[in-house]
Amino acid sequence: MTSKPTDQTTLAVKSASFAPAGPLTGRITVPGDKSISHRSLILSALAIGKSEITGLLEGEDVLATAAALRAMGARIEKNDTSWTVHGIGVGGLMQPESAIDLGNSGTSVRLLMGLVASHDISVTFTGDASLSKRPMGRVIDPLSDMGADFTTRTSSDGKACLPLTVRGLCPAIPIEYRLPVASAQVKSAILLAGLNTPGITQVIEPVPTRDHSETMLKGFGADISVEIDKDGNRIISLVGEAELAPQTITVPGDPSSAAFPVVAALLVPGSDIVVENVGINPTRAGLFTVLQQMGGNLRFENQRTVGGEPVADIHVKHSKLTGIDVPADIAPSMIDEFPVLFVAAGLAEGKTTTSGLSELRVKESDRLSQMAEGLSLLGVNITEKEDGLVITGSDGKPLTGSANEIAVKTALDHRIAMSFAVAGLITETGVMIDDMSPTETSFPGFTDLLAALQCSAK
Ligand code: S3P
Repeated sequence: MTSKPTDQTTLAVKSASFAPAGPLTGRITVPGDKSISHRSLILSALAIGKSEITGLLEGEDVLATAAALRAMGARIEKNDTSWTVHGIGVGGLMQPESAIDLGNSGTSVRLLMGLVASHDISVTFTGDASLSKRPMGRVIDPLSDMGADFTTRTSSDGKACLPLTVRGLCPAIPIEYRLPVASAQVKSAILLAGLNTPGITQVIEPVPTRDHSETMLKGFGADISVEIDKDGNRIISLVGEAELAPQTITVPGDPSSAAFPVVAALLVPGSDIVVENVGINPTRAGLFTVLQQMGGNLRFENQRTVGGEPVADIHVKHSKLTGIDVPADIAPSMIDEFPVLFVAAGLAEGKTTTSGLSELRVKESDRLSQMAEGLSLLGVNITEKEDGLVITGSDGKPLTGSANEIAVKTALDHRIAMSFAVAGLITETGVMIDDMSPTETSFPGFTDLLAALQCSAK
């Protein structure tokens, strides 16, 4: 594995090549869960007093949330092995002095929009080129119903985008909102706004999404309940004007980050690895189920509960994979893992069909088209549909690799970069990736960790 800066003017851009180097072996851990890390900082900032967080993901996205909360009055400090947050109480956010730049982080901006919506402050959010293209209307709609006011840029296709300014209303108006799109970010934005709103804020979720906000709000002492109605909808009710108590939090390893070494070990012949301390919350673990259905030798060992979340060590051995029809209803529990699943499908025997994935078009990049383009470059037989990919795999035969001049494009998307790094390990000549720097948003040290797994086999 080699890396070099490609562009003299934008030094942050870092191309790299990933090539086969024998089996992967060893025991590793991956960085803390990104979703839980954002929520740990936000809820600690809203508690009155001092919270302690260990295992926090120190990636750019989470650091952007920390900086934003500091700008609105919370004191957040990094210690040797933990983070301390001195919270200012629900309703205690202060007017920041200037616009807040959230870089690449969709979770930061959508959750913080919710937080600001029920405070009497006005905040401008900006982001990088990727974040500035992402749709914000899905959060603006319910938060406007709660009384917040928004000024946004309108994209060429008419979407409300960053930069945007939120003017919160205090007291805000409690709403009952049925999610039109399966999104934990939208659900969480409404619940965070509801914390400082009199009365009961209710979110109706026809399709379950990651439930970290509900679990953690309860852990911080909020009066929140979840019921399932006769049609299977999740009805989440939160009593507003909450008082949150400071907590000691341990953040488990991120299953969305573990996905990359797990798939790499399944695909590289002779591999046998353990990824320790990974969150396996059922609302996040869809990829592991799908990989097992494809024939992957993947076991959860030492299952336990850490900080209210189910956790396991994941033991993975190289396996022959067979393509399957991935049911659309599993998508929300593996929404961030499709890019690396597409790589697995590219090396499986036979056809893998995916559908119901139009949300992938509005992630950090259009993940359906980025993956279709990059995998085609590597010789994978792929058909791009509006809401999914159909992939006929090589049955373990190494992919063709990409010549140095034709680097795979990552489009400011960390998960595209890491997916093609994994693909590079099962090619004839390696894969050149145009920019690995986006991996810093969620998985600092990714390239070194992959190299360490290759080295321990030697
Ligand atoms: C996240 C929710 C998901 C996911 C994102 C993190 C969260 O987004 O893709 O990486 O922490 O709530 P959506 O809510 O848009 O599905």
